[in-house]
Order: sequence, then structure tokens, then C-alpha cells
Amino acid sequence: PLTDVQKQSVLARIRSELIARKAVLIAHYYVDGAIQDLALETGGFVADSLEMARFGKNHPAQTLIVAGVRFMGETAKILSPEKTVLMPDLEATCSLDLGCPADQFALFRSLHPDRVVVVYANTSAAVKAQADWMVTSSCALAIVHQLHQQGKKILWAPDRHLGSYIQEQTGADMLLWNGACIVHDEFKGVELELLRAQHPQAVVLVHPESPSSVVAQADVVGSTSAMIKAVVDGNAAEYIVATDQGILHRMRQLAPGKHLIAAPTAGQSATCKSCANCPWMAMNGLQGILQCLEQGSGEIDVPEPTRSNALICIERMLDFTE
Ligand code: 13P
Ligand code: SF4
Repeated sequence: PLTDVQKQSVLARIRSELIARKAVLIAHYYVDGAIQDLALETGGFVADSLEMARFGKNHPAQTLIVAGVRFMGETAKILSPEKTVLMPDLEATCSLDLGCPADQFALFRSLHPDRVVVVYANTSAAVKAQADWMVTSSCALAIVHQLHQQGKKILWAPDRHLGSYIQEQTGADMLLWNGACIVHDEFKGVELELLRAQHPQAVVLVHPESPSSVVAQADVVGSTSAMIKAVVDGNAAEYIVATDQGILHRMRQLAPGKHLIAAPTAGQSATCKSCANCPWMAMNGLQGILQCLEQGSGEIDVPEPTRSNALICIERMLDFTE
């Protein structure tokens, strides 16, 4: 870890490099708070995965630094092939992406040619290239609802919890891939019930990648941005938050008077009450950002025809959510 003095020096170098390279920093709510603050302070953006994609596409900067996980950088590059997209650590992946290899997905899809293929944003470009629709947690429900109204049957990948939540809410005929987020999969229904008993007035916010026993207890189910909005706009004094703990940084900034309680996970201990921290989001560091800017490291490339094929399902989602 950097000392305070080193950190200030790295921050100063990043600030001047961002200006010199006309680059913009786009961060997800789960990355380190110092990176989120830096993005906002330098004219960049902190957001959920849908808003990150739209911001990167619309921003005039020639270079996008994406602090998040690999699929976020790939989506930015697919939408803006003319821009340079750099990531602090190219190894920052996601268990949903890892659990859905493109060749196995192609086989699954080929067995069900009658179904509309809907994939979650947390997949590789090679999987998106095989899909009719890409969705994120903020628009998945509305998109599947519309497809269901049109009488379509759906093939869904990869998150089984989000898939079954949508299935239950919409009544759609959905065939689900068996993937999970290693972070949200750890939230526990019984422990959450006990916590709620201790905080009966608390509003429960749950990301839909969580198991059904946890989602069933939610007052609000939504994307990271929707969870933040619920705290900022809510009248309650206490909130139980079931998602990666990185989100608490922005929630505390935007709603300083409110009491935020981390939802319990299986891995909790005396020193770590929730332990909900994505190991891949944690790979984003200030030094990695500086390397992107000074050395051009961490460049994302999505070769053709994968890029053009993946673009179709992403643009469909952006048009739907406009
Ligand atoms: P959001 O789209 O809600 O930001 O979620 C992305 C993600 O990776 C959640 O684990
Ligand atoms: Fe993937 Fe889960 Fe990490 Fe989000 S929190 S990037 S879904 S592993």
C-alpha cells in the first residue's frame, strides 16, 4: 500500500496526465473510494454498469480509463472503437463472465434456436456477440417483461439468481444458465432475518444477483444506482445494504445522516461483518491508473467481427432505455 505522501504524489500525476492526454476516468461504485472521488473531481463519472456504458459512448474524450471489471472496459470499446480504452488491471474479471465460456454458451444456444437470447452485461464480448439482447440489473426486468408480452420464450445467461427473480416477477418462459456472482451469492437469508429483527425500522436494499431468500426480504431490489437513489430519496433513518461494500462510500457521501448497515454474509467474522468485497473490483488501484496514463498499459481490444456482432445487442438495450 502507498503511504499518504506517495498517494498524494500519484494523485497529482494522474490529475495532470488526465488533462495532458484528454482522458476521462469512469469508475464503478465498487472500486476503492479514492478512485471514485478522483473520477468525480476530474470531470469523470461514477455509476452503475448501464450508466458507465452510456457515459463512455457519449463523452468526447479520446481516451477512456475504465475502473471496474473487464466486461465494462469491453462494453466501452465495443461502443467506441475509435477511442482508446484502458483499464488499471486487465486481470480484473467477474465470476459470471468466467462461468459462461463462449464455446459452451454457443452449444447451449444451438440446442434452443426457438428462444430469444438475453445475456447479462457481466459476460465476455464473445458471449454478447451471440445474443439478441444485453441487459444490466437496472433494465433487465423491463426488457424481459416486454419480450414476454410479445410472446417470446427466453434463453437467459449467466446469473441464475437474477434470472429466477425476473422469471418470478414477469412469468416469462426462461431457460436459465447456472451462473452466480461469488460476492452476492454469499448473502444469507436467515442471518438477514435476524439482523432485520434487530433493526425493525430499517429499509432493506438488495442487488438482484443475491439468492432468492435474500431478495424475498427486500424493500428495494435494484442496480447499484437504484440502491443509492433509494437511500438518498428515502425517509427512513436506517438501511440494510446487500451488495458489495464499495457502494457504502458513495452512499455515505450522498446521504451523510443515514445509518447504513452491511447485510450479513457467510464469510462474516469478528473483524469482517459483511466481507462482501469483489476481489476483481479490488484490483483497481491508483498506480494502475497512473500506468495506463503514463505507459498506455491495460488497453482493451475487441477484434472484429466479435465487436460488431456484440454491438447489436448493446445498442438494442441503449435504445430501449433511452
Ligand atoms: P450494476 O449494473 O448494478 O452496477 O451491477 C454490476 C455488477 O457487477 C454487480 O455486481
Ligand atoms: Fe462480478 Fe460479482 Fe464482482 Fe459484480 S461483484 S463484478 S457480478 S463477481
